[in-house]
Amino acid sequence: MGRFDERVALITGAASGIGRATATRMAADGATIVGFDRDDHGLASVAAEITGSGGTMTTVTGDVSDRTECIAAVDAAVSTHGRLDILANVAGVTWAEHVADITEAGWKQMMDVNVSGSFWCAQAALPHLLEQHGNIVNIASNAGLMGQAYTVAYSTAKGAVVNMTRALAMEYAKQPVRINAVAPGGVDSPMSRDFVMPDDLDYTLMQGYIGFRSMADPAELANVIAFVASDEASRMHGAIVSVDGGLTAG
Ligand SMILES: NC(=O)c1ccc[n+]([C@@H]2O[C@H](COP(=O)([O-])OP(=O)(O)OC[C@H]3O[C@@H](n4cnc5c(N)ncnc54)[C@H](O)[C@@H]3O)[C@@H](O)[C@H]2O)c1
Repeated sequence: MGRFDERVALITGAASGIGRATATRMAADGATIVGFDRDDHGLASVAAEITGSGGTMTTVTGDVSDRTECIAAVDAAVSTHGRLDILANVAGVTWAEHVADITEAGWKQMMDVNVSGSFWCAQAALPHLLEQHGNIVNIASNAGLMGQAYTVAYSTAKGAVVNMTRALAMEYAKQPVRINAVAPGGVDSPMSRDFVMPDDLDYTLMQGYIGFRSMADPAELANVIAFVASDEASRMHGAIVSVDGGLTAG
């Protein structure tokens, strides 16, 4: 028996990094996975891995920043698999820049993907999650819990994900659904490998968010996300769970 047997999990950002690791972790524990990502090749690759190991995964290619595509992804999960128990909002984007270089389009993209995408998926999923007494796990960041130089737009967006999680948890406090967030620190994924800091930066401004430990493996995040989504975490609601090697402790 797996802890997610008979459960259906919609995972955004499932094509890569933490989302991919979460899909394989939950599938190994019995969940039927619906991966929603803009990267169709990545989705096909993780679906092949999961089905090759005896699991079940279907895919929806789309953009989480488009509300109609979030609604379509939730509808596809429910119409294909008959129910929805878990929404993991993992899709996200980041980049670094000086404040003076932030453009209107860049600011909007940062908010649309990281904040609005999580909200549109949550809004569409909630009626189904309430039916199943299910739950939402949003992926925030240490950047949403502390001020970070050179990533002001990303920090703003992830701070919004943190408080969106709390506000949703309060609005649904009396209803049978749990809403939590996991806040990673540095994770060794394509996102962090592609991350480029601006030239001419002041490294002393970054000391507070470099920390003392190596980057996490995506599987280490997936373990916590799966725990928070499982019945073992039945008392967790409105929690922001830091998984950052102590980065935000000091
Ligand atoms: N990697 C880190 O160090 C780190 C640290 C803290 C928080 N996070 C957060 O964890 C989450 C996952 O990051 P990751 O490291 O796995 O990154 P990643 O780049 O490996 O994966 C992100 C996934 O999101 C998908 N995606 C991006 N924009 C999308 C859109 N508009 N619509 C649909 N899919 C979209 C990408 O295609 C990709 O598959 C993100 O929310 C990120 O902000 C990452």
